Amino acid sequence: MNLKGRHLIDPNDFTLEELDEVFKLADKMIKDRNAYSKICQGRILGTCFYEPSTRTRLSFESAMLRMGGSILGFSDAATSSVSKGESIADTIRVLGSYADVLVMRHPKEGAPKLASEFSTAPVINGGDGGHQHPTQTLTDLLTINQLKGKIEGHTVAFCGDLKFGRTVHSLISTLSRYAKSKFILISPIELKLPESLKVNLKRKYDIEIVETEDLEKHMAEIDILYMTRIQKERFFNEADYTRLKDSYILNRNKLKDAKPDMMIMHPLPRVNEIGYDVDGDPRAVYFKQAEYGIYARMALMALLLGVDVDVEGR
Ligand code: CP
Repeated sequence: MNLKGRHLIDPNDFTLEELDEVFKLADKMIKDRNAYSKICQGRILGTCFYEPSTRTRLSFESAMLRMGGSILGFSDAATSSVSKGESIADTIRVLGSYADVLVMRHPKEGAPKLASEFSTAPVINGGDGGHQHPTQTLTDLLTINQLKGKIEGHTVAFCGDLKFGRTVHSLISTLSRYAKSKFILISPIELKLPESLKVNLKRKYDIEIVETEDLEKHMAEIDILYMTRIQKERFFNEADYTRLKDSYILNRNKLKDAKPDMMIMHPLPRVNEIGYDVDGDPRAVYFKQAEYGIYARMALMALLLGVDVDVEGR
């Protein structure tokens, strides 16, 4: 098993064993971060963000800096030569020689895949349109593993924008590969999980799926509630967004039937979908989840760069 030099465009690019390798190393980094503070000395991360980000870009930067490496890149394509009309291929050919690993976010689905075809350095998809967000999935699975003790066998409810939410698409297709997952899909009819994705999950993995528009109906059976933002930037018109934006607002009252150990996750940013009164509930783990994003990305970059780390021993 060797992740050195590989790209990560879709979470399904990695086998379950390779994902497990990332989580094992991340676990060691969580337990003793200082032991890894020099492993990327002399290595450079390049960040190419064609779309806004707080967590993804900054947790990648933090991860590289915490491993002793350096960072360069752009957080707004308007400040790069993209604004002069430079193609993704040319930009990535150049940045691939300036940095040792690249992370790209782009509003167009497939852009990081295209970039990977022109890069000598590993390319990591930092989110492409409404398609995939594989490092959010690493973050989410690491959070589940750390806080629930295992990834498989949970009843997971996804609530909100399941049509455009790339974090949902990546997580649901990856969780399906673990045994005995059950999914409850909660969304307005207009924002249901794409049929193609659902059919694939049922056919390939025989997953039990329940669909509903009612957030509270199945609350008592949920192990993990994954709330998501309605993705304003993917809507074709403002009126539809305005009509749907407050479809679900989780508050303390709506948690009255929830299990005492149910976990409330959210990839963030949140807008209105989780009330601030939920933040103090011990089941709300979304800020911890954002913190685990640093460790997931540290482990991923260390493995893609092939730095000398012992995943099994120590
Ligand atoms: N979860 C996530 O992708 O957050 P950002 O958009 O802030 O990077």
